[in-house]
Amino acid sequence: MFKENFLWGGAISANQCEGAYLEDGKGLSIEDVLPGGLMKEYTQEPTEDNLKLKGIDFYHRYKEDIKLFAEMGFKVLRLSIAWARIFPTGEEQEPNEKGLEFYDKVIDECLKYHMEPLVTISHYETPLALAQKYNGWTDRRMIDCYLKYCLVLFERYKNKVKYWITFNEINSIIHAPFMSGAIMTPKDELSKQELYQAVHYELVASSKAVKLAKSVNPEFQIGCMVLGVTVYPLTPAPEDVIEVMEYDRKTLFFTDIFCRGKYPYFAEHIFSEHGITLDITEDDRESLKNTVDFVAISYYSSSCATANPDNGEPTGGNMTRDLKKNPYNPTTDFGWQIDPKGLRYTLNKLYHLYEKPILIAENGIGMIEKSNSNSDYEIQDDYRIEYMKRHLLEVEDAIADGVEVLGYTYWGPIDLVSCATAQMKKRYGFIYVDREDDGSGTLCRSKKKSFDWYRDLIKTNGGILHE
Ligand code: BG6
Repeated sequence: MFKENFLWGGAISANQCEGAYLEDGKGLSIEDVLPGGLMKEYTQEPTEDNLKLKGIDFYHRYKEDIKLFAEMGFKVLRLSIAWARIFPTGEEQEPNEKGLEFYDKVIDECLKYHMEPLVTISHYETPLALAQKYNGWTDRRMIDCYLKYCLVLFERYKNKVKYWITFNEINSIIHAPFMSGAIMTPKDELSKQELYQAVHYELVASSKAVKLAKSVNPEFQIGCMVLGVTVYPLTPAPEDVIEVMEYDRKTLFFTDIFCRGKYPYFAEHIFSEHGITLDITEDDRESLKNTVDFVAISYYSSSCATANPDNGEPTGGNMTRDLKKNPYNPTTDFGWQIDPKGLRYTLNKLYHLYEKPILIAENGIGMIEKSNSNSDYEIQDDYRIEYMKRHLLEVEDAIADGVEVLGYTYWGPIDLVSCATAQMKKRYGFIYVDREDDGSGTLCRSKKKSFDWYRDLIKTNGGILHE
């Protein structure tokens, strides 16, 4: 049973939906120079082919979009604030008032419908200037830039926003150092020393943000977020189980620090193995003790690990390319494997370790869809309904297991630009957006079949899962 105040809703990010990439004083962000998405190289300047520059024009259509979310009965909208709208280069003395005014309007629009705005402070949108000047999070000075930005948000939205996430999928820095950590050094040239130093500075920034937040409003609820990679051994061979243990550490390293306030016991081993000596001050260690209130995860699929790279087929997924396909799970149009039970498993695992409420901050299915008329219900996305239904039944089971689940924010309630490939053709929404990969289209919004289903799901607080 979902509790009465379960936070049903959806999740979007600024860089994937707003567009208006230079409007009202916004500076460039790292996404503005990633035309091919996360797996591709960045460019020197924004290029016409980068769909994120245009997004789905949420910047001008937020009222229409939020109204549609309200029609589905969203209790919460997870959105991110584009750091470069507030501090265009990350280092101005004063924030950009025009940028803040935009988020005032978005947040007020949510509140008008009694929809809780849940803010991700940094969702792959670091100001490009900080990447260029400091090589992103490899530099300690990033901490102060981030905290200055946080303070502006905390004070401005002191009485309007309760839930905050410090960084989207912080552990993705291991897989995508530029997108996640604003690190310009190409991934294959980046040393483990630099990588873990950047991780450390981000973790310190996050923990200092927790303290800062509470000093502004003790009622604030601050969460960390990790990419909830669920990994199984490809075979029962003990070596494969050890591989899983190693892989899990790529997530637990982060959640341990966030939730326990100190580096995990296996950190020293990783550091000595790679000859890493970190710049960690006493103040850093003290700061890390500011633990989070909740843990947020994204969960789309699961994969398998093996000690023998010749075994198994490579799996899909944005950050799991080094893992293998699970022969028991079906695969989406984009090669992501569907595994609802893996969600129950991961929820239990994280709750067992930390006993902190968990927010399912992202879960969804991206498919190829095409509307020819832009009329409502032309897209009959039964597969999306099925996907959610199966995942949510597992969430219910996890709740019955005793896991405290705060809410569920479906990823991409409205079609938006893909993070991995910067395309429109991978669609997650309950709402179709008429925009093609080449940027053409009327931007008209139309409802898919899943729109009504999600509305009924929220209305019955999950009751229709059992019909
Ligand atoms: C998550 C990101 O990793 O995956 C989102 O936080 C992203 O920003 C989502 O959109 C789905 O990935 P993609 O590549 O299908 O957009």
